[in-house]
Amino acid sequence: MNRPYVIVNCAMSADGKSALPTRKQLRISSDEDIERMYKLRNECDAVLVGIDTILSDDPKLTVKAKYVKNPKQPLRVVLDSKCRIPKDTLVLNNAAKTLIITTEGNEKHFEGKHVEVIGCKANKEEHVDLECALELLYQKGVKKLLVEGGGTITWSFLEKRLLDDLYIYIGPCVIGGKTTPTVADGLGIKNEGELISLKIVDVTRLGAGILTQYRMIQ
Ligand SMILES: NC(=O)c1ccc[n+]([C@@H]2O[C@H](COP(=O)([O-])OP(=O)(O)OC[C@H]3O[C@@H](n4cnc5c(N)ncnc54)[C@H](OP(=O)(O)O)[C@@H]3O)[C@@H](O)[C@H]2O)c1
Repeated sequence: MNRPYVIVNCAMSADGKSALPTRKQLRISSDEDIERMYKLRNECDAVLVGIDTILSDDPKLTVKAKYVKNPKQPLRVVLDSKCRIPKDTLVLNNAAKTLIITTEGNEKHFEGKHVEVIGCKANKEEHVDLECALELLYQKGVKKLLVEGGGTITWSFLEKRLLDDLYIYIGPCVIGGKTTPTVADGLGIKNEGELISLKIVDVTRLGAGILTQYRMIQ
């Protein structure tokens, strides 16, 4: 299978949480980590999130000129099996191109030449099939992909071992809450034999927190 090089990037509290217990976004990264994230975004051909991150955070997914001179604005990709994306979300603005990957038969039309909707086959959970989505992105010229969550999408990439690098920024804070989103949600593994093994490549103190870089062991 042809697929892009996949980097997953996320930020969590010391207790592994990635948002408020209400699922609203909160800032965990330091200024230094935000700058690193924008530079990483700009180095990639596309940046991908799940539809629930769009619905809860309404991110623009662009590169700010404050952090990168003449940003190239990678393709914004949303995995949205039922095409639930509201027409007024910021990721549909014309600051960059956007690709909505839905499942076959759920395609909708959106205003503007910068928005494209493509249907992929569905997996057995009726979500967009990740292998199909990655193959499609590769065919469209995406050779380096940055996945920016949320926890459900990150879990799906981890479970299928469809990533190469994982960056986790650990902020010096605790959020708590039994149902608070974490960096890898989904169903999780069923037994020790299914453990997803990673290799630590680098650990750096960055601003007030720590940046850990892992490589996927296939
Ligand atoms: N700290 C961080 O780094 C960070 C980053 C991003 C988000 N967040 C937080 O994470 C939370 C959102 O995360 P989330 O886990 O609720 O949602 P999510 O991962 O953003 O999106 C999950 C949705 O994606 C769709 N999807 C399409 N194909 C899929 C596939 N193959 N596998 C899994 N899902 C697929 C599914 O909806 P359909 O079936 O309808 O398609 C699924 O419900 C928010 O609280 C946000 O603030 C934190």
